[in-house]
Amino acid sequence: MKHHVQPFEKPIILVHGGAGSFSRRNFKEYRSCLKDAVTNGYEALLSGSAIEGVVEAVKMMEDCGHMNAGIGSVLNLHGYVEMDAGIMDGKTMRAAGVALIRKIRNPILLAKAIMDHTDHVLLAGDFAEKLGEKLGLETYDFAPQEDKKRKYNELYSRLLKGDIKHLRRISELVQKYKDIAYGTVGAVALDREGRLAAATSTGGYWLKLPGRIGDTPIVGAGFYANKNAAASSTGIGEYILIAGLCRKAVEFVEAGLNATSAAVKSIEYMSAFFGENTAGLIIVDFRGYVGAAFNTKGMGRAMLSKSHKEPVIAIFRDYSLV
Ligand code: GLY
Repeated sequence: MKHHVQPFEKPIILVHGGAGSFSRRNFKEYRSCLKDAVTNGYEALLSGSAIEGVVEAVKMMEDCGHMNAGIGSVLNLHGYVEMDAGIMDGKTMRAAGVALIRKIRNPILLAKAIMDHTDHVLLAGDFAEKLGEKLGLETYDFAPQEDKKRKYNELYSRLLKGDIKHLRRISELVQKYKDIAYGTVGAVALDREGRLAAATSTGGYWLKLPGRIGDTPIVGAGFYANKNAAASSTGIGEYILIAGLCRKAVEFVEAGLNATSAAVKSIEYMSAFFGENTAGLIIVDFRGYVGAAFNTKGMGRAMLSKSHKEPVIAIFRDYSLV
């Protein structure tokens, strides 16, 4: 991938719609979700802070139905949705993650509510949802539609035949059955005042065990922001958790790299330790450098800044963003 190693003028927003194999994807709708997310996120950023920008962008992707987050979330082993999300404000260093969400339509709004209204950093399950309802968040009936039921039945019957060895060597699993691959959505932003924020949301991956929590709601793994940089990751949560991927990428910036190089180095680390087809990452730093790197076939991504006339959107490596 060709890298534009130059800083952009703030405000800046960068979004991803997940790294993966893109084996069967409706690109038109997927690209349109990326465009709407980055455009609306940028609007929010123009009138508000980095936090408002990333929340709006991720909410759009949770609502679009063509990404693995919010209403587009995949089904777990028992055939229902369990979603995770996380958010961090790089100025205040406040953060929150929510896990195993089944009813709240926008887990990213719940994560923000937990950050704003509680003393906790991570909340999972029923009470988190009840609190969300009390705080006025919308619920949604996540009962799967026909297309999702069909896909679940197909994957489940492969599992019964021994075709999918769940929990054994996840990367082999994903290499072999590309259509169970991950999605996840995320956004990072640098606002006019120089504040940074990151947000990430996911349905996890097909046939994950009920109760499984991935990297997405965990500070430093699925998301991280401080005064130097903000990062959001996508990929196989178990590996990203072990790597502490987003914190690692921000540390590369703290060590003197720009965000473009920090993204590349972080994904090189993932490939070296966990193999190819494991992760993707977006990052923006305080100087306005941006990074987007992945070791999968593609990663939907889009950006907009004061330096751009219109959103730049890319999915595969043959198009340079960044
Ligand atoms: N990265 C999303 C997940 O593994 O849940």
